[in-house]
Amino acid sequence: MAQSALACVAPDQENPELDAFRADVIEGLSSSPKALSPKYFYDEAGSRLFDLICRLPEYYPTRSELEILTARAGEISAFAGPHASLVEFGSGSSVKVRLLLDALERPAAYVPIDISGPHMRAAVARLAADYPDVAMTPVEADFTRPLHLPALEGGRRLGFFPGSTIGNFSPEAAGSFLAHAGEVLGPDSALVVGFDLPKDRAVLEAAYDDRQGVTAAFNLNLLARMNRELGADFDPAAFGHRAFFNAEASRIEMHLESRRSQVVRVCGQRFPFAAGETIHTENSHKYAVPVFLDMAQAAGWHERAVWTDSRGWFAVAMLERR
Ligand code: AVI
Repeated sequence: MAQSALACVAPDQENPELDAFRADVIEGLSSSPKALSPKYFYDEAGSRLFDLICRLPEYYPTRSELEILTARAGEISAFAGPHASLVEFGSGSSVKVRLLLDALERPAAYVPIDISGPHMRAAVARLAADYPDVAMTPVEADFTRPLHLPALEGGRRLGFFPGSTIGNFSPEAAGSFLAHAGEVLGPDSALVVGFDLPKDRAVLEAAYDDRQGVTAAFNLNLLARMNRELGADFDPAAFGHRAFFNAEASRIEMHLESRRSQVVRVCGQRFPFAAGETIHTENSHKYAVPVFLDMAQAAGWHERAVWTDSRGWFAVAMLERR
């Protein structure tokens, strides 16, 4: 029996991630409206496509955040003080971490927290070679769940959550995450968070529906992943990529839209689609600075600084916990 068909037969003790994916897909396609979590975008192909997205001319967040971090790394370092431990939520782009490690004064430790162990350990191995004096202590865990940091000596704990990933949470989940990060980091810590700002609809929509079709391929890859891992029979040509700004909710929504009336099978279950019906695959919330700061304050964080890039499109907040 093919591996994908086996994925439907019984819970796989050895592959709880596949079990969770199957359960989430069946639940998401059974709900109305249909929806899937954006965390499933990031298989190998999806991660490669996301790296390409970050380099697209239309996708401004990565470049805007790098502009801010480059300009403000000295201020972040001054606030963190000597021997700080840098704790990154999610396995990030090594470019951004290096900017901070280069700026910090004799950083004591780098602690990335990520659910994808192999990916994180490979990134840490590359960093360790370049920062031999920094203790590298990766934590393999879901960073939104309760966890304990390894014993960290020395200076302040500096949390780092770049990339506007916070925008992919619902506002409630974003507030809970900020409170949780405060508990993980402890008293007298700091947190540097990147978030995307509301702006002209055309700029936003182009960033999530680029001319080369890379974001469309990223969205549609979810169908290929379900076909490969769950033995689903999605025809990717029968779905289109849709991305639009929902101004009322201040978020970009991404959907996969059925081009015609059709029935898709996943693990022996039939999921009918009407023409034009969508699977909601991602929200990317855009927070005005006061809205973000209110949410941070409610989660126990105080504003130390908020910086924006030269176009005022993206922001980085440095928060402190007293
Ligand atoms: C990872 N995350 C912050 C990206 C975003 O902008 O919401 C994911 C993404 N989706 C489409 N393009 C980029």
